[in-house]
Amino acid sequence: MFKSVSRQLFKSSPILKQGTQSVSFVRTKYALPTLDYELDALEPYISGQINDLHYNKHHKTYVDNLNKSIESAVEAKSKDEVKKLVALQKAINFNGGGYINHCLWWKNLAPQKQGGGELPSKDSPLDKQITKQFGSIEKLIEITNGKLAGIQGSGWAFVVKNKENGGEINVITTANQDTITDPNLVPLIAIDAWEHAYYLQYHNVKADYFKAVWNVINWKEAERRFEF
Ligand SMILES: [Fe+2]
Repeated sequence: MFKSVSRQLFKSSPILKQGTQSVSFVRTKYALPTLDYELDALEPYISGQINDLHYNKHHKTYVDNLNKSIESAVEAKSKDEVKKLVALQKAINFNGGGYINHCLWWKNLAPQKQGGGELPSKDSPLDKQITKQFGSIEKLIEITNGKLAGIQGSGWAFVVKNKENGGEINVITTANQDTITDPNLVPLIAIDAWEHAYYLQYHNVKADYFKAVWNVINWKEAERRFEF
């Protein structure tokens, strides 16, 4: 799913010695994904200022802290420090979730001139499933917006395909940066309900942001994930 996410190699390449043979390996360092559009290309629905901060500051911080947490965990493991490993799980969950959620987020958005907001193709598998379950895409959007409005504090809403349930579509919310880890649930659309995603433009009226974001949702990407 995240093949497009660029990675950089750590400068250090640990070398393990096994008997007389040397086995070297390199670990990868997570990095910000390359965006398919300019930061101001989602205007007027999401301002360039929000995207600049969201991508270059918030997402970058999750990436940096995920790399630091993993480095610390590798070090703790090498020293057999189990308590430290346990303590690091929270940081890995938060920053790893933040990294994954935001990768989904940027990819499931698109400027209108690149197809953002265009509903799934009529009679595509995704369109058929949504119509069968919800009656219309507008109804699915209404349900998702209702779930987004119900998030207390910070969190995310995910429209997912439930592979365990015949490809049924579910709408799930998570708190903070918790992400979808169940392999049977394929995120089709992830919507960021953190204040940093809307406050500079929509202030306290987050319902307006939830309505507006659908104008730049990349349904083509959702279709691709649905059929994956
Ligand atoms: Fe965010």
